[in-house]
Amino acid sequence: MSEIKKRPIILDGDPGHDDAIGWVLAATIPEFEIKAITTVAGNQTLEKVTYNARRIAALLHLDIEVAKGRNKPLCGDLIIAPNFHGETGLDGPALPEPDHELSKLSAIEKMAEVLRESEEKVTIITTGAQTNVAALLLAHPELKEKIALISTMGGGLRNGNWTSGAEFNILVDPEAAYTVYHSGVPLQMCGLDVTEKALVYPEDWERIRALHNPIAEVVAGWFDFFFIHVKSLGWAGATTHDPCAVMSLIHPEIFDIRDYYVDIELSGNYCRGATVADYNNRTGNAPNCRCVMDLDREKFVDYLVEACAKFEGWEV
Ligand code: RIB
Ligand code: CA
Repeated sequence: MSEIKKRPIILDGDPGHDDAIGWVLAATIPEFEIKAITTVAGNQTLEKVTYNARRIAALLHLDIEVAKGRNKPLCGDLIIAPNFHGETGLDGPALPEPDHELSKLSAIEKMAEVLRESEEKVTIITTGAQTNVAALLLAHPELKEKIALISTMGGGLRNGNWTSGAEFNILVDPEAAYTVYHSGVPLQMCGLDVTEKALVYPEDWERIRALHNPIAEVVAGWFDFFFIHVKSLGWAGATTHDPCAVMSLIHPEIFDIRDYYVDIELSGNYCRGATVADYNNRTGNAPNCRCVMDLDREKFVDYLVEACAKFEGWEV
């Protein structure tokens, strides 16, 4: 059987229930070679999301380093989201304690090390504020050409969620997003345009729970908790944001992806952090981003269930 061509991956996020579900999905993809996990403050403080990341790595038996990133945005103060993710940032199912030491490198230097040492170009999947990636691009511009793609969950071309104009990950650090969107590095954006259509309903995650393996039980428990606040906002299903940034890489055929020039609003009382698309090429700028706009929701759910089924007999 022909060798699967490996795709080196860095997972950067702020786990966070949906980050965690996206990382479970990433861990099941044969061609993905996860080289490192890097953490950034957002859903909770840096300390909490880093502890969560290390526990997720232990849960998934990932023999990789977790490196701690920036504890606040490039400019301004940190905002966090305990209302969605709880006091720990990953409230709900019990998880194993970390089984690897925290990397001695910062997230930025760990990312740079992975890029330098990888023969293949590296895909970075960011599911939190883009602070670490921006800092990497600012500190190591010479490594830009080693990045194959930055697949992000962030933004929303039609609406925000933390404010009416801005989605949380971008609003946490608009200057970081501006740096990334102006870097020239290939970008794929899963904004609210697709992630608010990536609704996973309770009956969907009961399919996951019914798999009765340890990872499926945890993923169902993460959906249980995450949906508590999401439901209170009026959603009939869990807006499953971060897994879109993973799934759109491995099953692009179930997504509607458009190329647009996208810029980041940095000023304004009401729209700071907005991601603004030039749909009609009014700016004369070439597209800088593959914008994921829609999906086949049922196939998305089926692939999530399929991924969780791969953990049959898993030892936690
Ligand atoms: O707006 C949704 C995003 O903010 C997701 O990445 C979620 O984990 C939070 O970080
Ligand atoms: Ca996240």
